[in-house]
Amino acid sequence: NEIKIFSPATVANVACGFDVLGFCLDTIGDEMTIRKVDKKGIFITKVEGFNLPTETELNVAGVSALAMYEAVNPDCGFEIEIRKNIKPGSGIGSSAASAVGSVFGMNELLGKPFNKTELTAFAIKGEALASQCEHADNLAPAIFGGFTLVKSVSPLEVLQIPVPNNLYATIIHPQIEIKTSEARAILPKQVPLQDVITQWSNFGSLIHALHTNDYPLIKRSLHDVIIEPHRSKLIPYFDDVKQAALKHGALGSGISGSGPSIFSLSEGIEKAKNVEEAMINVYSKTNIKFDTYVC
Ligand code: HSE
Repeated sequence: NEIKIFSPATVANVACGFDVLGFCLDTIGDEMTIRKVDKKGIFITKVEGFNLPTETELNVAGVSALAMYEAVNPDCGFEIEIRKNIKPGSGIGSSAASAVGSVFGMNELLGKPFNKTELTAFAIKGEALASQCEHADNLAPAIFGGFTLVKSVSPLEVLQIPVPNNLYATIIHPQIEIKTSEARAILPKQVPLQDVITQWSNFGSLIHALHTNDYPLIKRSLHDVIIEPHRSKLIPYFDDVKQAALKHGALGSGISGSGPSIFSLSEGIEKAKNVEEAMINVYSKTNIKFDTYVC
C-alpha cells in the first residue's frame, strides 16, 4: 500500500532539440513516498528540502496526481511525501520530477492501469502549473528513461531514443535565478530559414548518432544556433564554461533546459570528470556559488 520511488532530474533541449529532446540523469533526483489511504483525495503530507506548497492544487506533484485521480476515481485516496533534492529553478527538471513521481507511484499502487505515454500526459498538467505552458521534454525522459523525443504534445507521442553505452553527462549549476517564463519570453518569434536548416540538420544527425553510437557525429551535431545565442546572455560566464568543457574533451555543451545549469556530454567517465574540473575552474574564480554532478 506504499511505494518509495526515485524521480530523476532531466536535461531538456540537449542543444539542438528545443522543446522536444531530453535525457534523464540517473544519480540525481527526488525521493518520494506514495501511500494508499482510506480517505478519498490527494494529500501532500510532507515536503522536505525546499520550501514548496503542500496545498494539493498548488503543488505540481499534487496537480498531476489529481489529473490521474479524476480519471480513475478510485475508492481510496493517496498521501504523497516529497524529499526534494533537485533545487527548483535549477534547469534540470525539478518540477518535472515532482510531477512525474506522484503519477508513477500511484499507477504502481493501482496495478498499472496506464502506460508511460498516458503517465506523461497526466504529468503535463502538473508541469504546466510551474512553467505556464504544456511541454513534455523534461517529463518524458523522467518516465521513459534515457533519451526521449516528444514527437507531438497533442496528441502526445513520445519516442524513446537509445543511449550510447559510454555516454556521461556533466552538469554545473551556477546558483543564479532564471525563470523559465522569462527565458522563453526573450526568444524571437521568427527565425531565419538558414538557421532552421542548420538546426534540423544538427538535430537529425544527433538522433542518428545516438542510434549508431557515433561519438564523432554527436560532437559535430551538438550545436544550437537558434536558442543559445539569446539565452546564453542570461548565464554569466556561459561562453567560458562551454569553451573550457570543449577544450577538456567534451563532445558538446549547452544550456540545460532554460538554464541556468549548463550540461556537457562526454565519452567515458574520465573525460566527464575532467570536464567537471574544467567547468568548476571557471566559476571558482568568480563569486558565483555552484553545484556539479556527473551522471
Ligand atoms: N524546453 C523548455 C525550455 C524546458 O527550454 O523552455 C524548460 O522547461
